[in-house]
Amino acid sequence: MALPQSQGHAAARPRRPGLIRYISIAILALIVLAGIAVLIIWLVVKPRRFEYSVEDASIHNFNLTDANHLYANFDFNIRAYNPNSRVSIYYDTVEMSVVYEDQTLATNAIQPFFQSHLNVTNLQVKLTAKTVALYGSLPKDLKLERRSGDIELDVWIKARIRFKVGLWKSRDRTMKIFCSPVLVHFSRSKNFERTFCGVEL
Ligand SMILES: *[C@@H]1O[C@H](CO)[C@@H](O)[C@H](O)[C@H]1NC(C)=O
Ligand SMILES: *[C@@H]1O[C@H](CO)[C@@H](O)[C@H](O)[C@H]1NC(C)=O
Repeated sequence: MALPQSQGHAAARPRRPGLIRYISIAILALIVLAGIAVLIIWLVVKPRRFEYSVEDASIHNFNLTDANHLYANFDFNIRAYNPNSRVSIYYDTVEMSVVYEDQTLATNAIQPFFQSHLNVTNLQVKLTAKTVALYGSLPKDLKLERRSGDIELDVWIKARIRFKVGLWKSRDRTMKIFCSPVLVHFSRSKNFERTFCGVEL
């Protein structure tokens, strides 16, 4: 009883199962091939995270006026390490900011550069806070930290980058690097403690 019923059902809706099956198999094969291709590229390229750290930082000519304007020079030594043996990176634009609590004190652009594989590049960056107006509790906090001899700063770096693998170059994308907290001593006799940075791509 069951057999004639199911035959009649199939005849009522001709679905051309052969064609659908071929298309499904073709699509599946393409997906598998694409997956294998990605896997092979991944294994050959072996991408690894770029590493950044603040190696040294100092403040000079710190002057917080009675009107709560800040003048200060900041010197940073940023270490950029490319641990990849096949991926190089173009830094097309790089902008670095020093942030105290939530306020940006100073910003500066870094010369564009190209970093080849397994390279370490040390960037010496100078930033100047030129009579920056401080708001809220910032002047008070800054005075307290000045008196304590240390100041906790955040370093933000925003870069437009491109990757290069062999002859292939990626399109440009934004990389954000944040180093926090960077403990800067007013006195140069104290040793700076390296700060590792987080990276967002
Ligand atoms: C700080 O800045 C004020 C205003 O510009 C100036 O009068 C003062 O001499 C400066 N102090 C130092 C220590 O440079
Ligand atoms: C990294 O690259 C820069 C710029 O090309 C070069 O000056 C520096 O010597 C390289 N460093 C290493 C460790 O290869």
